[in-house]
Amino acid sequence: MRPRRLRESAALRRLVSETRLDPADLVLPIFVREGSSEPIPISSMPGVVQHSLDSVKGAVADAAAAGVGGVMLFGVPEVRDAEGSGATDPEGILNVATRIVREEAGDALVVQTDLCLDEFTDHGHCGVLDPLGRVDNDATLGRYREMALVQAASGSQLLGLSGMMDGQVAAVREALDDAGFAHTAILAYSAKYASAFYGPFRDAVESTLEGDRRTYQLDPGNRREGLREAMIDIEEGADIVMVKPAGSYLDVLADVSAASDIPVWAYQVSGEYAMIEAAAMHGWIDRRRAVIESVRGIRRAGADAVLTYWATELAGWIRKGE
Ligand code: PBG
Repeated sequence: MRPRRLRESAALRRLVSETRLDPADLVLPIFVREGSSEPIPISSMPGVVQHSLDSVKGAVADAAAAGVGGVMLFGVPEVRDAEGSGATDPEGILNVATRIVREEAGDALVVQTDLCLDEFTDHGHCGVLDPLGRVDNDATLGRYREMALVQAASGSQLLGLSGMMDGQVAAVREALDDAGFAHTAILAYSAKYASAFYGPFRDAVESTLEGDRRTYQLDPGNRREGLREAMIDIEEGADIVMVKPAGSYLDVLADVSAASDIPVWAYQVSGEYAMIEAAAMHGWIDRRRAVIESVRGIRRAGADAVLTYWATELAGWIRKGE
């Protein structure tokens, strides 16, 4: 047996390649900060910024020009409170940004929004708290329903439910359908693990969280539970399910991909981005090759599309033949 035969030339390797990258399968996460007129760099994510309502337009235009499939918007508000009021205020930063981005994007790419309270609450949790300070699952669902309607009305085409509350997909689906938004789709962050790799993101959204999210996000050791969460979300009416983070959870991704009859996405999170950027800055790895390999690995494991902070740059490389 001589498997090396198919590795003989670049042309042959290209012809037998099992996993191709396509800009259309990439989604760019974007941060928009309230009250700033200039983009602000995020120190733990070199190359990523908190956009202003003005600079976000350029980022979206660049992503669209590169052929990127969509953008996922996150809002960073100036004021926070216990209920996360800014999330449901039509004039809140995320909803304003959504209207601007939708106008800018037209039909060139899909405008998506993060549906979670953590950026908007003063305690930093993904839901509202009960009198004992615990995250109140069912009270939070009421807030998510309201958030869904404001986001849909602002023009979001795909709502990214990242809060990990039980029943969130069913609750949001019902709220949307009852309010005439039956066409608005749901991306369920189904298997979202309580991960150290979200560290830089918490800088990006100026998170106020003390403690952790282990009562709602998954235990990193649990593989079957990730699949179960995805199956529950499919049952509740999700249009797309997601595994997050990506690189350390490829087994979960492969399981969900094998069992799902709807698209399966993965989120290459802030810490995954920061690790490669940091090593590359030291000259310890080849940045471009590492970025491409990391995303290809996620696609190979079963992701139909990947959320990655490199989406626009990577799309450019793909178009030039990587
Ligand atoms: C919650 C949310 C988080 C991320 C996306 N949505 C943070 C968290 O759960 O702590 C993390 C994304 C990343 O690290 O790149 N709204």
